[in-house]
Amino acid sequence: MIKLQHVSKTFRVGKNKIEALKDVSLEVNKGEIFGVIGFSGAGKSTLIRCVNLLERPTDGQVFVDDQDVLGLDKRGLRQLRRKIGMIFQGYNLLETANVYDNVAIPLKLEGVPKDEIKARTEKYLEIVGLTDRSKAFPSQLSGGQKQRVAIARALAHEPEVLLSDEATSALDPNTTDAILELLLKVNRELGITIFLITHELNVIQRICDRVAVMENGRIVESGTVVDVFTRPREAMTKQFISNESKFLIPAQLKSELLESGKLVKLTFLGESSKDPVLATLAKQFDVLPSIIAGGIDQLKDQSVGNLLVHLKGDQNKVETAIQFLHDQDVLVEEVSG
Ligand SMILES: Nc1ncnc2c1ncn2[C@@H]1O[C@H](COP(=O)(O)OP(=O)(O)OP(=O)(O)O)[C@@H](O)[C@H]1O
Ligand SMILES: [Mg+2]
Repeated sequence: MIKLQHVSKTFRVGKNKIEALKDVSLEVNKGEIFGVIGFSGAGKSTLIRCVNLLERPTDGQVFVDDQDVLGLDKRGLRQLRRKIGMIFQGYNLLETANVYDNVAIPLKLEGVPKDEIKARTEKYLEIVGLTDRSKAFPSQLSGGQKQRVAIARALAHEPEVLLSDEATSALDPNTTDAILELLLKVNRELGITIFLITHELNVIQRICDRVAVMENGRIVESGTVVDVFTRPREAMTKQFISNESKFLIPAQLKSELLESGKLVKLTFLGESSKDPVLATLAKQFDVLPSIIAGGIDQLKDQSVGNLLVHLKGDQNKVETAIQFLHDQDVLVEEVSG
């Protein structure tokens, strides 16, 4: 659906060159939700803006639906942009127009027939749950409601793809969840492909199918969310994930635990979460497990259980027990000092 090949973007500011994107390649499949995560300044906004050519790559190629978009003339570009909706952190609403008109006016400018404007505006306000606020002005709405208007406005053009640049970054956690639910619904029920960028791991966890991690203008790691989340390879990715982790134990406690045994982080996925593996460790291997911390992360289609466990026992027995955990498809990561 969207394909970027060896895309680079260099900004020139006076005599300085800023390489915002360096040889980025990625592919977003039709119907999926693809997320790019990275810290501020990584190049995420530049990347997403290259898809609808709000930013023109310095190098490389961009395809949407197999169409080489860099070769499009003005008219072609207009048609392309009709296929691609976009939402932002700032909602860019018309402050002097009410909710209904915020959705309807852009359709009018597009030359959509009158009846159609009414039908679409009503339909998409209903989908985002704002039918009863259609007479309200943006200043009378909460941040979450404003983002709903922006989403309805984007959907009203009936795009194939929705680009989202930090759409939930200004919202509180509950409102973020509600907007993420809405994006899932848009993806599932309307079949719209979503390409989003964010600095929030939660957004990736909750709704994305695949993810790419960006650092200094490059993609350093990518894959399914489950894989990247449970087996992060790059330091950058680990940093993102452990920043959110509940396993930041106090240094003092950690050194005490390491003195008296091994500390392991266990990750349970799918079937492995149902077996009583820790009880087995005690019974079969003569190793005493104590749970130090634990939690469950909800990914889009499955949950991932995490436990920080202290293993006490004979060194050989502990090693055998760890091997047993591996065999049970539990991911085991040893925590060192
Ligand atoms: N129009 C521009 N002119 C010059 N430099 C730019 C321009 N747009 C972006 N940059 C630079 O390119 C780099 C990447 O910026 P970008 O906005 O893509 O990052 P980002 O990952 O979206 O960051 P954030 O999470 O803060 O939004 C930054 O160093 C930024 O200063
Ligand atoms: Mg940005």
